[in-house]
Amino acid sequence: MNGYKVAIVGATGMVGQEFIKVLEQRSFPIESIEMLASDRSAGKKLFFSHREVEVKETTPESFKGIDIALFSAGTDISRYFSPIAAQSGAVVIDNSSAFRMDPKVPLVVPEINPEDIKKHKGIIANPNCSTIQMVMALYPLHRVNTIKRIVVTTFQAVSGTGSAAVGELTTQAKQVLNGQATAPHVYPHQIAFNVLPEIDVFLDNAYTKEEWKMVEETRKIMHADDIAISATCARVPVFIGHSEAINIEFSHPMSPDEARRLLAQAPGVKLLDDPAISLYPQSWSSAGTDEVFVGRIRRDVSHPNGLVMWVVADNLRKGAALNAIQIAEEMIKRGWLNNGGGR
Ligand SMILES: NC(=O)c1ccc[n+]([C@@H]2O[C@H](COP(=O)([O-])OP(=O)(O)OC[C@H]3O[C@@H](n4cnc5c(N)ncnc54)[C@H](OP(=O)(O)O)[C@@H]3O)[C@@H](O)[C@H]2O)c1
Repeated sequence: MNGYKVAIVGATGMVGQEFIKVLEQRSFPIESIEMLASDRSAGKKLFFSHREVEVKETTPESFKGIDIALFSAGTDISRYFSPIAAQSGAVVIDNSSAFRMDPKVPLVVPEINPEDIKKHKGIIANPNCSTIQMVMALYPLHRVNTIKRIVVTTFQAVSGTGSAAVGELTTQAKQVLNGQATAPHVYPHQIAFNVLPEIDVFLDNAYTKEEWKMVEETRKIMHADDIAISATCARVPVFIGHSEAINIEFSHPMSPDEARRLLAQAPGVKLLDDPAISLYPQSWSSAGTDEVFVGRIRRDVSHPNGLVMWVVADNLRKGAALNAIQIAEEMIKRGWLNNGGGR
C-alpha cells in the first residue's frame, strides 16, 4: 500500500486546519484525503499538498473505505459519527472528550503509553491539550521517582476554544484600544486584557470540567490511579500556546539538576531554563512548534520532596493535531494499522 485513506472531520476548524498542516509537514503516507465539516461548509475549497479538495458534509456514508478518521468537530459530532466510522472499518482518532474516560477506549500520548493503542476497538482518544503537555513534562520524572501529588495552574490560549474565540479576542482587543464597549459571546465575560478562571462547565465539586479532565486523564495516561491532583484552569488573552505552573511532590527528593538531566533526554521535550538570560518557555514562541517546553525548574521551598516548573506548548499541535497524528504514525510503525492489529 502506498498510503492511507484519511478523513478529517472538522477540517475547516482550528484543529482541522492544523491536521492538514501536520500531515503535509510530516509527509504522512496518504492515498486520498476527505475534508469533512458541517453542511455550512460543504462546497468550500481547502488545499492539501497544493491540490484543491472540496469540503463535504459529514454523513454516515462519509466513512466508507476510510482507513483513518481524524475527528475534531466537537463532542456531539464525535459521539454520533465515531462509532459509525469505526463500524465502517476506519480507525478513529478523536480529539473531543466524548470517549476519553471510556475504559474500552485507549487515551494515548505516544511518548508515554503507546502500548495502550493496541487495545483499541476502533476508537482511540486524544487527551485534552492541557493534560498532554503536563504529562509530557512529568512522566519522564515519574518513571524514576514516583509522583505523589501535583498542583497545577494553567494559562490557556483562546485557540483552545476554537476559531470563534480567536475572532472574539481580536475584536475585543481592537474595541478596548479604541475606547469602545465590548460584548462577550463565546466567553461569559470579556477576554481581551482579562483572565477568566472558568474553562468548561462548573461541576458539583466546584472544580470546572476542564480541571477535572486534567485529574482523570493524567491518571489514565500515566497508569497512576493514586496520584493526588488539583488543577486551576484559566483562560488568558493569548492566541496560541498554553502555559502551566506545576508544583510536584515526589516520593523522594529530586534536585532541579536531576530533573533537567531527565527532561533533556525526554523525547518531545525541550528545556529552556536559564534565568540568568531570562530564558524560559513562552506561549508566543511556542506557536507553530512541536515540542513541550520546560523551564523555571526549581526546588519547592514549601516541601522537601517538591519541585516547581513552567511548561508551555502549542495547544493546536502537541495539544491536539500533532499528538493525534503521532498516534497514527505509531500504529503504522508497529504494524497495527490495516493488518488486524488491535482490532
Ligand atoms: N483547539 C484546541 O486547542 C483543541 C485541543 C484539543 C481538542 N480540541 C477539540 O477539537 C474540537 C474542535 O475544536 P476546534 O478548535 O477546531 O473548533 P472550531 O475551530 O470551532 O472548529 C469546529 C469544526 O467542527 C466542524 N463542525 C461543526 N459542526 C459540525 C457538524 N454538525 N458536522 C460536522 N462538522 C461540524 C466545523 O465545521 P464548519 O466550518 O462547517 O462549521 C469546524 O470544522 C473540539 O471538540 C475541541 O474540544 C480542540
